[in-house]
Amino acid sequence: MGWNNWNSFGCDVSEGLLLSTSERLVSLGLRDLGYQYVVLDDCWQQESGRDQHGKLQPDPSKFPNGLKSISDGLHDQGFKFGMYSSAGEMTCARYAGSLDHETDDAESFASWGVDMLKYDSCYHMGRIGTPLISFNRFKTMSDALKATGRNILLNLCNWGEDFVHTWGMSISNSWRISGDIYDSFTRPDDLCGCDPNVLSDPYCIAPGTHCSVLFIINRIAAIADRSIPGGWNDMDMLEVGQGGMTDEEYKAHFSLWAALKSPLFLGNDIRSMPAAALTIINNPAILALSQDPHGRSVTRVRRDVGKDLPLDEWGVGEMHVWSGYLQNGDEAVIFLNAAGADLEMSCSLAEIFTAFGPGGSAPHVQFDWAVHDLWAHRMDDATAEAILAAGTAEERSALLKKANWYNATETPYADGLRNEDPRLFGEKIGVVEAGGVLRATVKSHAAKVFRLRRIAKEGAKFKGKSIDRVAKDEL
Ligand code: GAL
Repeated sequence: MGWNNWNSFGCDVSEGLLLSTSERLVSLGLRDLGYQYVVLDDCWQQESGRDQHGKLQPDPSKFPNGLKSISDGLHDQGFKFGMYSSAGEMTCARYAGSLDHETDDAESFASWGVDMLKYDSCYHMGRIGTPLISFNRFKTMSDALKATGRNILLNLCNWGEDFVHTWGMSISNSWRISGDIYDSFTRPDDLCGCDPNVLSDPYCIAPGTHCSVLFIINRIAAIADRSIPGGWNDMDMLEVGQGGMTDEEYKAHFSLWAALKSPLFLGNDIRSMPAAALTIINNPAILALSQDPHGRSVTRVRRDVGKDLPLDEWGVGEMHVWSGYLQNGDEAVIFLNAAGADLEMSCSLAEIFTAFGPGGSAPHVQFDWAVHDLWAHRMDDATAEAILAAGTAEERSALLKKANWYNATETPYADGLRNEDPRLFGEKIGVVEAGGVLRATVKSHAAKVFRLRRIAKEGAKFKGKSIDRVAKDEL
Protein backbone atom coordinates (compact mmCIF):
# COMPACT_ATOMS: atom_id res chain seq x y z
CA MET A 1 0.00 0.00 0.00
CA GLY A 2 1.20 3.49 -0.78
CA TRP A 3 0.99 6.43 -3.16
CA ASN A 4 2.36 6.91 -6.67
CA ASN A 5 2.45 10.25 -8.47
CA TRP A 6 1.74 9.03 -12.02
CA ASN A 7 -2.07 9.05 -12.29
CA SER A 8 -2.48 12.63 -11.13
CA PHE A 9 0.86 14.32 -11.92
CA GLY A 10 2.42 12.42 -14.82
CA CYS A 11 5.83 13.98 -15.45
CA ASP A 12 5.30 16.93 -13.10
CA VAL A 13 7.44 15.47 -10.31
CA SER A 14 9.62 17.20 -7.72
CA GLU A 15 11.05 16.96 -4.25
CA GLY A 16 8.33 19.34 -3.03
CA LEU A 17 5.57 17.11 -4.40
CA LEU A 18 6.89 13.96 -2.73
CA LEU A 19 7.60 15.52 0.63
CA SER A 20 4.41 17.57 0.87
CA THR A 21 2.43 14.47 -0.08
CA SER A 22 4.14 12.31 2.50
CA GLU A 23 3.45 14.88 5.23
CA ARG A 24 -0.19 14.87 4.28
CA LEU A 25 -0.30 11.06 4.23
CA VAL A 26 0.84 11.16 7.84
CA SER A 27 -1.48 13.89 9.04
CA LEU A 28 -4.58 12.41 7.39
CA GLY A 29 -3.89 9.12 9.15
CA LEU A 30 -3.22 7.31 5.87
CA ARG A 31 0.33 6.20 6.63
CA ASP A 32 -0.95 4.55 9.78
CA LEU A 33 -3.69 2.82 7.85
CA GLY A 34 -0.89 1.12 5.91
CA TYR A 35 -0.12 3.40 2.94
CA GLN A 36 3.61 3.01 3.47
CA TYR A 37 5.30 3.44 0.11
CA VAL A 38 5.83 6.80 -1.60
CA VAL A 39 6.67 6.05 -5.22
CA LEU A 40 8.34 8.39 -7.69
CA ASP A 41 7.33 7.30 -11.20
CA ASP A 42 8.80 8.25 -14.59
CA CYS A 43 10.45 11.60 -15.51
CA TRP A 44 12.74 11.99 -12.50
CA GLN A 45 15.93 11.97 -14.61
CA GLN A 46 17.94 14.75 -16.17
CA GLU A 47 17.21 15.10 -19.89
CA SER A 48 20.83 14.68 -20.95
CA GLY A 49 20.79 11.04 -19.90
CA ARG A 50 23.53 9.17 -18.06
CA ASP A 51 26.58 10.96 -16.66
CA GLN A 52 30.14 10.28 -17.88
CA HIS A 53 30.38 7.26 -15.57
CA GLY A 54 27.28 5.72 -17.09
CA LYS A 55 25.12 6.46 -14.04
CA LEU A 56 21.54 7.69 -14.05
CA GLN A 57 21.16 11.22 -12.68
CA PRO A 58 18.11 12.97 -11.23
CA ASP A 59 16.99 16.24 -12.80
CA PRO A 60 18.59 18.89 -10.55
CA SER A 61 15.77 21.35 -11.10
CA LYS A 62 13.22 18.81 -9.83
CA PHE A 63 15.45 17.27 -7.16
CA PRO A 64 17.98 19.94 -6.10
CA ASN A 65 19.07 17.90 -3.07
CA GLY A 66 19.35 14.60 -4.91
CA LEU A 67 17.40 11.44 -4.23
CA LYS A 68 19.18 10.17 -1.13
CA SER A 69 17.94 13.19 0.77
CA ILE A 70 14.37 12.38 -0.29
CA SER A 71 14.70 8.79 0.75
CA ASP A 72 16.19 9.88 4.11
CA GLY A 73 13.30 12.30 4.59
CA LEU A 74 10.74 9.63 3.78
CA HIS A 75 12.41 7.05 5.99
CA ASP A 76 12.47 9.56 8.87
CA GLN A 77 8.73 9.93 8.46
CA GLY A 78 8.25 6.16 8.57
CA PHE A 79 7.77 5.61 4.82
CA LYS A 80 9.46 3.40 2.27
CA PHE A 81 10.73 4.92 -0.96
CA GLY A 82 9.81 3.55 -4.41
CA MET A 83 11.35 4.52 -7.74
CA TYR A 84 10.90 3.75 -11.41
CA SER A 85 12.85 2.57 -14.44
CA SER A 86 12.21 0.57 -17.61
CA ALA A 87 13.65 -2.68 -19.01
CA GLY A 88 14.23 -0.88 -22.28
CA GLU A 89 16.63 1.55 -23.89
CA MET A 90 14.32 4.33 -22.70
CA THR A 91 11.56 4.74 -20.12
CA CYS A 92 8.04 5.25 -21.44
CA ALA A 93 8.51 9.03 -21.22
CA ARG A 94 11.83 8.63 -23.09
CA TYR A 95 14.40 9.08 -20.37
CA ALA A 96 17.35 6.67 -20.15
CA GLY A 97 16.24 3.07 -19.57
CA SER A 98 17.99 0.33 -17.63
CA LEU A 99 18.24 -2.38 -20.32
CA ASP A 100 21.86 -3.60 -20.37
CA HIS A 101 22.68 -1.20 -17.51
CA GLU A 102 21.05 -3.27 -14.79
CA THR A 103 24.04 -3.59 -12.46
CA ASP A 104 24.89 0.11 -12.54
CA ASP A 105 21.30 1.14 -12.01
CA ALA A 106 20.55 -1.35 -9.25
CA GLU A 107 23.59 -0.02 -7.43
CA SER A 108 22.33 3.55 -7.84
CA PHE A 109 18.90 2.62 -6.51
CA ALA A 110 20.44 0.84 -3.54
CA SER A 111 22.75 3.78 -2.80
CA TRP A 112 19.78 6.14 -2.79
CA GLY A 113 18.04 3.99 -0.20
CA VAL A 114 15.30 2.81 -2.53
CA ASP A 115 12.96 0.14 -1.11
CA MET A 116 10.94 -0.69 -4.23
CA LEU A 117 11.48 -0.52 -7.98
CA LYS A 118 8.62 -0.25 -10.44
CA TYR A 119 10.14 -1.69 -13.60
CA ASP A 120 8.42 -0.82 -16.88
CA SER A 121 8.70 -2.36 -20.34
CA CYS A 122 8.80 0.45 -22.92
CA TYR A 123 11.41 0.50 -25.70
CA HIS A 124 12.41 -3.10 -25.09
CA MET A 125 14.43 -3.33 -28.35
CA GLY A 126 12.34 -6.23 -29.55
CA ARG A 127 13.24 -8.46 -26.64
CA ILE A 128 9.69 -9.65 -26.25
CA GLY A 129 7.47 -12.25 -27.85
CA THR A 130 7.91 -15.35 -25.72
CA PRO A 131 7.69 -15.80 -21.97
CA LEU A 132 11.37 -16.80 -21.85
CA ILE A 133 12.64 -13.70 -23.65
CA SER A 134 10.68 -11.41 -21.35
CA PHE A 135 11.54 -13.45 -18.27
CA ASN A 136 15.26 -13.17 -18.99
CA ARG A 137 15.08 -9.44 -19.65
CA PHE A 138 13.39 -8.79 -16.31
CA LYS A 139 15.42 -11.38 -14.41
CA THR A 140 18.61 -9.46 -15.10
CA MET A 141 17.32 -6.59 -12.99
CA SER A 142 15.93 -8.91 -10.34
CA ASP A 143 19.40 -10.48 -9.97
CA ALA A 144 21.14 -7.09 -9.99
CA LEU A 145 18.88 -5.80 -7.21
CA LYS A 146 19.53 -8.92 -5.17
CA ALA A 147 23.28 -8.53 -5.67
CA THR A 148 23.19 -5.08 -4.02
CA GLY A 149 22.34 -6.73 -0.71
CA ARG A 150 19.52 -4.22 -0.12
CA ASN A 151 16.00 -5.54 0.22
CA ILE A 152 14.25 -3.92 -2.75
CA LEU A 153 10.74 -4.95 -3.75
CA LEU A 154 10.41 -5.47 -7.50
CA ASN A 155 7.17 -4.47 -9.26
CA LEU A 156 7.11 -5.55 -12.91
CA CYS A 157 5.12 -3.41 -15.31
CA ASN A 158 4.87 -5.20 -18.65
CA TRP A 159 1.08 -4.92 -18.78
CA GLY A 160 0.44 -8.67 -18.78
CA GLU A 161 2.56 -9.37 -21.86
CA ASP A 162 4.19 -12.75 -22.48
CA PHE A 163 2.05 -14.41 -19.78
CA VAL A 164 3.81 -12.58 -16.94
CA HIS A 165 1.35 -14.15 -14.50
CA THR A 166 3.09 -17.49 -15.15
CA TRP A 167 6.65 -16.35 -14.39
CA GLY A 168 6.50 -13.02 -12.52
CA MET A 169 6.35 -14.89 -9.23
CA SER A 170 9.83 -16.38 -9.74
CA ILE A 171 11.65 -13.06 -9.96
CA SER A 172 9.45 -10.29 -8.53
CA ASN A 173 6.89 -9.31 -5.93
CA SER A 174 4.14 -8.10 -8.25
CA TRP A 175 3.37 -7.84 -11.93
CA ARG A 176 0.92 -5.66 -13.83
CA ILE A 177 -1.74 -7.74 -15.57
CA SER A 178 -3.17 -5.14 -17.95
CA GLY A 179 -2.58 -1.86 -19.74
CA ASP A 180 -2.85 1.39 -17.80
CA ILE A 181 -6.02 2.15 -15.91
CA TYR A 182 -7.97 5.28 -16.75
CA ASP A 183 -10.59 7.12 -14.76
CA SER A 184 -13.66 5.35 -16.15
CA PHE A 185 -15.76 2.49 -14.80
CA THR A 186 -16.88 0.71 -17.98
CA ARG A 187 -16.10 2.84 -21.04
CA PRO A 188 -14.31 0.77 -23.70
CA ASP A 189 -11.52 2.55 -25.56
CA ASP A 190 -9.36 1.68 -28.55
CA LEU A 191 -6.30 2.50 -26.48
CA CYS A 192 -6.96 -0.59 -24.41
CA GLY A 193 -6.91 -2.96 -27.31
CA CYS A 194 -6.95 -6.46 -25.82
CA ASP A 195 -9.86 -8.79 -25.29
CA PRO A 196 -10.19 -8.86 -21.50
CA ASN A 197 -11.44 -12.44 -21.57
CA VAL A 198 -8.63 -13.95 -23.60
CA LEU A 199 -5.28 -13.88 -21.86
CA SER A 200 -3.45 -15.06 -24.94
CA ASP A 201 -5.34 -12.69 -27.23
CA PRO A 202 -3.17 -12.79 -30.39
CA TYR A 203 -4.68 -9.54 -31.60
CA CYS A 204 -3.60 -7.69 -28.50
CA ILE A 205 -1.06 -5.41 -30.09
CA ALA A 206 -1.59 -2.73 -27.47
CA PRO A 207 -2.31 -3.38 -23.78
CA GLY A 208 -2.76 0.37 -23.87
CA THR A 209 -3.36 3.31 -21.62
CA HIS A 210 -7.15 3.59 -21.39
CA CYS A 211 -8.32 0.49 -19.54
CA SER A 212 -11.51 0.83 -17.54
CA VAL A 213 -12.06 -0.62 -14.08
CA LEU A 214 -14.39 -3.27 -15.55
CA PHE A 215 -11.86 -4.19 -18.25
CA ILE A 216 -9.16 -4.81 -15.63
CA ILE A 217 -11.52 -6.83 -13.43
CA ASN A 218 -12.45 -9.04 -16.38
CA ARG A 219 -8.80 -9.36 -17.38
CA ILE A 220 -7.78 -10.63 -13.95
CA ALA A 221 -10.69 -13.03 -13.45
CA ALA A 222 -8.97 -16.09 -14.95
CA ILE A 223 -5.75 -15.55 -13.03
CA ALA A 224 -7.00 -14.09 -9.75
CA ASP A 225 -5.75 -17.15 -7.89
CA ARG A 226 -2.13 -16.47 -8.92
CA SER A 227 -1.66 -13.93 -6.13
CA ILE A 228 -0.09 -15.31 -2.99
CA PRO A 229 1.94 -13.61 -0.27
CA GLY A 230 5.18 -12.33 -1.76
CA GLY A 231 3.90 -12.24 -5.37
CA TRP A 232 0.80 -10.35 -6.41
CA ASN A 233 -1.22 -9.57 -9.52
CA ASP A 234 -1.09 -5.79 -9.94
CA MET A 235 -4.26 -4.17 -11.29
CA ASP A 236 -2.57 -0.73 -11.54
CA MET A 237 -2.82 2.35 -9.39
CA LEU A 238 -6.08 3.66 -7.97
CA GLU A 239 -8.17 6.40 -9.56
CA VAL A 240 -10.26 7.16 -6.44
CA GLY A 241 -10.63 10.93 -6.03
CA GLN A 242 -9.65 11.86 -9.59
CA GLY A 243 -13.15 12.98 -10.61
CA GLY A 244 -14.06 10.77 -13.58
CA MET A 245 -16.22 8.25 -11.71
CA THR A 246 -19.16 8.45 -9.33
CA ASP A 247 -18.87 7.82 -5.62
CA GLU A 248 -20.38 4.32 -5.98
CA GLU A 249 -18.01 3.51 -8.84
CA TYR A 250 -15.00 4.55 -6.77
CA LYS A 251 -16.22 2.45 -3.84
CA ALA A 252 -16.58 -0.56 -6.15
CA HIS A 253 -13.16 0.06 -7.74
CA PHE A 254 -11.48 0.33 -4.34
CA SER A 255 -13.27 -2.73 -2.89
CA LEU A 256 -12.34 -4.99 -5.79
CA TRP A 257 -8.71 -3.89 -5.80
CA ALA A 258 -8.59 -4.65 -2.06
CA ALA A 259 -10.33 -8.04 -2.23
CA LEU A 260 -8.35 -9.09 -5.32
CA LYS A 261 -5.17 -8.34 -3.37
CA SER A 262 -3.80 -5.87 -5.87
CA PRO A 263 -1.16 -3.52 -4.49
CA LEU A 264 -3.11 -0.43 -3.36
CA PHE A 265 -1.30 2.63 -4.64
CA LEU A 266 -3.31 5.81 -4.27
CA GLY A 267 -3.10 7.81 -7.48
CA ASN A 268 -4.83 11.05 -6.55
CA ASP A 269 -3.49 14.37 -5.25
CA ILE A 270 -3.51 13.78 -1.50
CA ARG A 271 -3.09 17.48 -0.82
CA SER A 272 -6.39 18.49 -2.39
CA MET A 273 -8.78 15.65 -2.00
CA PRO A 274 -12.58 15.62 -1.77
CA ALA A 275 -13.96 14.35 1.54
CA ALA A 276 -15.72 11.51 -0.26
CA ALA A 277 -12.40 10.20 -1.57
CA LEU A 278 -10.86 10.24 1.88
CA THR A 279 -13.76 8.24 3.30
CA ILE A 280 -13.28 5.58 0.64
CA ILE A 281 -9.55 5.08 0.95
CA ASN A 282 -9.64 5.14 4.75
CA ASN A 283 -12.26 2.43 5.30
CA PRO A 284 -10.43 -0.04 7.57
CA ALA A 285 -13.00 -2.81 7.03
CA ILE A 286 -12.13 -2.85 3.31
CA LEU A 287 -8.40 -2.47 3.97
CA ALA A 288 -8.64 -5.51 6.25
CA LEU A 289 -9.65 -7.55 3.18
CA SER A 290 -6.56 -6.33 1.35
CA GLN A 291 -4.29 -7.03 4.31
CA ASP A 292 -5.87 -10.32 5.39
CA PRO A 293 -3.03 -12.61 6.52
CA HIS A 294 -4.30 -15.54 4.45
CA GLY A 295 -3.23 -13.50 1.41
CA ARG A 296 -5.51 -15.09 -1.17
CA SER A 297 -7.62 -13.21 -3.65
CA VAL A 298 -11.36 -13.52 -4.03
CA THR A 299 -12.28 -15.34 -7.22
CA ARG A 300 -15.30 -14.95 -9.43
CA VAL A 301 -18.04 -17.50 -8.88
CA ARG A 302 -20.54 -15.99 -11.27
CA ARG A 303 -20.65 -13.61 -14.21
CA ASP A 304 -23.86 -12.80 -16.02
CA VAL A 305 -23.56 -10.95 -19.32
CA GLY A 306 -26.45 -10.24 -21.65
CA LYS A 307 -29.38 -12.29 -20.31
CA ASP A 308 -31.57 -9.20 -20.66
CA LEU A 309 -29.47 -7.18 -18.26
CA PRO A 310 -30.06 -3.45 -18.75
CA LEU A 311 -27.20 -1.81 -20.64
CA ASP A 312 -25.33 1.28 -19.45
CA GLU A 313 -24.44 4.25 -21.68
CA TRP A 314 -21.52 2.29 -23.19
CA GLY A 315 -23.61 -0.73 -24.03
CA VAL A 316 -22.23 -2.69 -21.09
CA GLY A 317 -24.53 -4.85 -18.98
CA GLU A 318 -23.05 -7.43 -16.66
CA MET A 319 -22.97 -8.49 -13.05
CA HIS A 320 -20.54 -10.54 -11.02
CA VAL A 321 -20.29 -12.36 -7.74
CA TRP A 322 -16.84 -12.74 -6.22
CA SER A 323 -16.03 -14.68 -3.07
CA GLY A 324 -13.02 -15.78 -1.09
CA TYR A 325 -11.80 -17.32 2.12
CA LEU A 326 -10.29 -15.16 4.86
CA GLN A 327 -7.81 -16.18 7.53
CA ASN A 328 -10.29 -16.38 10.40
CA GLY A 329 -12.75 -18.54 8.45
CA ASP A 330 -14.94 -15.64 7.32
CA GLU A 331 -15.86 -15.36 3.67
CA ALA A 332 -15.62 -12.15 1.62
CA VAL A 333 -18.43 -11.75 -0.91
CA ILE A 334 -18.79 -8.97 -3.46
CA PHE A 335 -21.85 -8.31 -5.61
CA LEU A 336 -20.81 -6.12 -8.55
CA ASN A 337 -23.42 -4.45 -10.71
CA ALA A 338 -21.91 -3.17 -13.96
CA ALA A 339 -25.25 -2.84 -15.70
CA GLY A 340 -27.37 0.16 -16.57
CA ALA A 341 -29.97 -0.10 -13.79
CA ASP A 342 -30.25 -1.11 -10.14
CA LEU A 343 -30.52 -4.89 -9.71
CA GLU A 344 -31.82 -7.39 -7.20
CA MET A 345 -28.85 -9.71 -6.92
CA SER A 346 -28.68 -13.06 -5.21
CA CYS A 347 -26.27 -15.93 -4.80
CA SER A 348 -26.71 -19.22 -2.98
CA LEU A 349 -24.28 -20.39 -0.30
CA ALA A 350 -23.61 -23.35 -2.61
CA GLU A 351 -22.29 -20.98 -5.26
CA ILE A 352 -20.47 -18.70 -2.84
CA PHE A 353 -18.53 -21.67 -1.45
CA THR A 354 -17.85 -23.35 -4.80
CA ALA A 355 -14.11 -23.25 -4.13
CA PHE A 356 -14.61 -25.78 -1.33
CA GLY A 357 -16.66 -28.14 -3.43
CA PRO A 358 -19.06 -27.52 -6.31
CA GLY A 359 -22.76 -28.29 -6.43
CA GLY A 360 -23.39 -27.52 -2.78
CA SER A 361 -20.95 -30.19 -1.55
CA ALA A 362 -18.91 -27.70 0.50
CA PRO A 363 -19.57 -28.26 4.22
CA HIS A 364 -19.85 -24.48 4.63
CA VAL A 365 -23.25 -24.60 2.98
CA GLN A 366 -24.60 -26.44 6.05
CA PHE A 367 -23.97 -23.52 8.40
CA ASP A 368 -25.78 -20.29 9.13
CA TRP A 369 -23.83 -17.15 8.27
CA ALA A 370 -24.09 -13.65 9.70
CA VAL A 371 -23.85 -11.04 6.95
CA HIS A 372 -21.70 -7.97 7.62
CA ASP A 373 -21.81 -4.92 5.36
CA LEU A 374 -18.25 -3.58 5.11
CA TRP A 375 -19.29 -0.11 3.97
CA ALA A 376 -21.76 0.43 6.81
CA HIS A 377 -19.33 2.36 8.99
CA ARG A 378 -17.83 4.58 6.33
CA MET A 379 -16.56 7.80 7.91
CA ASP A 380 -19.17 10.55 7.63
CA ASP A 381 -18.56 13.54 5.38
CA ALA A 382 -18.60 16.11 8.19
CA THR A 383 -15.79 14.32 10.03
CA ALA A 384 -13.79 13.97 6.82
CA GLU A 385 -14.33 17.65 5.95
CA ALA A 386 -13.12 18.66 9.40
CA ILE A 387 -10.02 16.44 9.12
CA LEU A 388 -9.17 17.85 5.68
CA ALA A 389 -9.74 21.44 6.81
CA ALA A 390 -7.86 21.22 10.12
CA GLY A 391 -5.23 23.95 10.44
CA THR A 392 -2.53 21.86 12.09
CA ALA A 393 -1.40 18.28 12.19
CA GLU A 394 -2.22 18.24 15.93
CA GLU A 395 -5.80 19.30 15.31
CA ARG A 396 -6.08 16.63 12.68
CA SER A 397 -4.74 13.91 14.90
CA ALA A 398 -7.19 14.96 17.65
CA LEU A 399 -10.04 14.62 15.15
CA LEU A 400 -8.85 11.20 14.05
CA LYS A 401 -8.65 10.10 17.64
CA LYS A 402 -12.17 11.36 18.27
CA ALA A 403 -13.35 9.41 15.24
CA ASN A 404 -11.79 6.29 16.87
CA TRP A 405 -9.57 5.88 13.84
CA TYR A 406 -7.77 2.61 13.11
CA ASN A 407 -3.99 2.66 13.44
CA ALA A 408 -2.36 -0.30 11.71
CA THR A 409 1.11 0.84 12.75
CA GLU A 410 0.10 0.22 16.36
CA THR A 411 -2.19 -2.74 15.71
CA PRO A 412 -1.43 -4.59 12.47
CA TYR A 413 -4.53 -5.83 10.66
CA ALA A 414 -3.67 -9.43 11.56
CA ASP A 415 -3.88 -8.54 15.27
CA GLY A 416 -6.99 -6.42 14.84
CA LEU A 417 -8.72 -9.28 13.05
CA ARG A 418 -7.63 -11.82 15.65
CA ASN A 419 -8.94 -9.56 18.44
CA GLU A 420 -12.21 -8.97 16.58
CA ASP A 421 -11.69 -5.20 16.46
CA PRO A 422 -15.18 -3.99 15.46
CA ARG A 423 -13.74 -1.37 13.11
CA LEU A 424 -12.67 -4.18 10.77
CA PHE A 425 -16.02 -5.95 10.57
CA GLY A 426 -18.52 -3.35 9.35
CA GLU A 427 -22.09 -3.89 10.56
CA LYS A 428 -24.12 -7.08 10.89
CA ILE A 429 -27.15 -6.61 8.68
CA GLY A 430 -28.70 -10.07 8.57
CA VAL A 431 -28.28 -13.82 8.44
CA VAL A 432 -28.24 -16.39 5.65
CA GLU A 433 -29.44 -19.70 6.94
CA ALA A 434 -27.89 -23.05 6.03
CA GLY A 435 -28.54 -23.89 2.40
CA GLY A 436 -29.85 -20.39 1.83
CA VAL A 437 -29.32 -17.49 -0.50
CA LEU A 438 -27.63 -14.12 0.00
CA ARG A 439 -29.68 -11.31 -1.51
CA ALA A 440 -29.09 -7.59 -1.94
CA THR A 441 -30.24 -4.68 -4.02
CA VAL A 442 -27.21 -3.25 -5.79
CA LYS A 443 -27.28 0.13 -7.47
CA SER A 444 -26.17 0.50 -11.06
CA HIS A 445 -22.37 0.78 -11.28
CA ALA A 446 -21.86 -0.15 -7.66
CA ALA A 447 -20.75 -3.02 -5.45
CA LYS A 448 -21.97 -4.46 -2.17
CA VAL A 449 -19.17 -5.86 -0.07
CA PHE A 450 -19.91 -8.42 2.63
CA ARG A 451 -18.05 -10.47 5.18
CA LEU A 452 -19.92 -13.65 6.04
CA ARG A 453 -19.25 -14.91 9.55
CA ARG A 454 -20.13 -18.45 10.53
CA ILE A 455 -22.65 -18.77 13.33
CA ALA A 456 -21.77 -21.64 15.62
CA LYS A 457 -24.98 -23.34 16.71
CA GLU A 458 -25.12 -25.16 19.98
CA GLY A 459 -24.98 -28.90 19.47
CA ALA A 460 -24.24 -28.65 15.74
CA LYS A 461 -21.88 -31.28 14.41
CA PHE A 462 -19.46 -31.46 11.53
CA LYS A 463 -18.03 -34.85 10.48
CA GLY A 464 -19.13 -36.19 13.83
CA LYS A 465 -17.29 -33.55 15.86
CA SER A 466 -18.97 -30.83 17.88
CA ILE A 467 -18.84 -27.70 15.75
CA ASP A 468 -16.84 -25.71 18.29
CA ARG A 469 -14.05 -28.25 18.03
CA VAL A 470 -13.69 -27.93 14.29
CA ALA A 471 -10.86 -25.58 13.42
CA LYS A 472 -12.06 -22.92 11.03
CA ASP A 473 -9.56 -23.94 8.39
CA GLU A 474 -10.88 -27.51 8.42
CA LEU A 475 -14.03 -26.13 6.90
C1 GAL B 1 3.56 3.17 -18.32
C2 GAL B 1 3.13 2.56 -17.01
C3 GAL B 1 2.54 3.67 -16.16
C4 GAL B 1 3.57 4.75 -15.94
C5 GAL B 1 4.11 5.25 -17.28
C6 GAL B 1 5.28 6.22 -17.10
O1 GAL B 1 4.12 2.19 -19.12
O2 GAL B 1 2.22 1.53 -17.24
O3 GAL B 1 2.07 3.15 -14.93
O4 GAL B 1 4.62 4.25 -15.16
O5 GAL B 1 4.54 4.18 -18.09
O6 GAL B 1 5.78 6.70 -18.31
